[in-house]
Amino acid sequence: MTQQPQIAYFTEEASVDTVNARVSGDADARLTQVMASLVRHLHAFIKDVELTQQEWGIAIDFLTRTGQICDENRQEFILLSDVLGVSMLVDAINNRRPTGATENTVLGPFHVDGVPEYEMGANITQQGGRETCRFEGRVTDLDGNPIAGARIDVWCDSEDGFYDVQQPGIQPQHNNRGLFTTGSDGRYWFEGIKPVSYPIPDDGPVGRMLGQLGRHPYRPAHMHFIVSADGYDTVTTHTFVAGDPYLTSDAVFGVKKSLIADFEPVTDGPTRWRSEYDFVLTGAKGGTP
Ligand code: BEZ
Ligand code: FE
Repeated sequence: MTQQPQIAYFTEEASVDTVNARVSGDADARLTQVMASLVRHLHAFIKDVELTQQEWGIAIDFLTRTGQICDENRQEFILLSDVLGVSMLVDAINNRRPTGATENTVLGPFHVDGVPEYEMGANITQQGGRETCRFEGRVTDLDGNPIAGARIDVWCDSEDGFYDVQQPGIQPQHNNRGLFTTGSDGRYWFEGIKPVSYPIPDDGPVGRMLGQLGRHPYRPAHMHFIVSADGYDTVTTHTFVAGDPYLTSDAVFGVKKSLIADFEPVTDGPTRWRSEYDFVLTGAKGGTP
């Protein structure tokens, strides 16, 4: 095993080099790079704030509780990443796209696989709702050419601000979810309800942390979309309801200006709202960033 030159004893001044020098020269190169940077920034942070022993204990306790509340339905570490802006930063770095292409945003914890596949025009709401809404638009490439066979996976909260998976036994399974596939004109349209703003799960350590920081837990109203097509980069995104009071203070920093969509009142017909939004895909067939 190849070893870096050792610094035998730990000192405050040489803390970073002491730790990083222990890593074997045989270790994976990317892992070595990532861990060296992590140690450098972590030590710089601790030195910057001169972390006290008590604060260190609070941090360990916080991370312990964050882990302990996780189960197959609850991922408090991702929530922590979300509220610290880390999820959006990783997403931004990994999804740089040319101007005009639809932007990504956070996936969130409420996506589920295996939802019903509907014919275009179907209603995804199994509970009905007061603020009924028609969603429509086109899926195109950067040149405006329609993309046939694009899969559109959609989900949103109920009018009470909860996803179906948060209320088993109260909401029907797959309420406000569905999968659609575009035809040759690239168009999509379906019926649902106008989403409402809601708090992220705030009954755990992350919610308590937000409270201590004077931060609210709300997300502005949005409809989730995953739009995918063979040969194109998949877009994981939302459309946000224009005018929502939380657009500029989303608890997870997911809002991008290009994703804010108008929801117009409809006066002729049973549906009360209409929202039109076009998705523009890039990738092997649609131009690379
Ligand atoms: C969501 O939009 O479903 C969501 C995103 C991040 C954290 C919590 C919820
Ligand atoms: Fe959501």
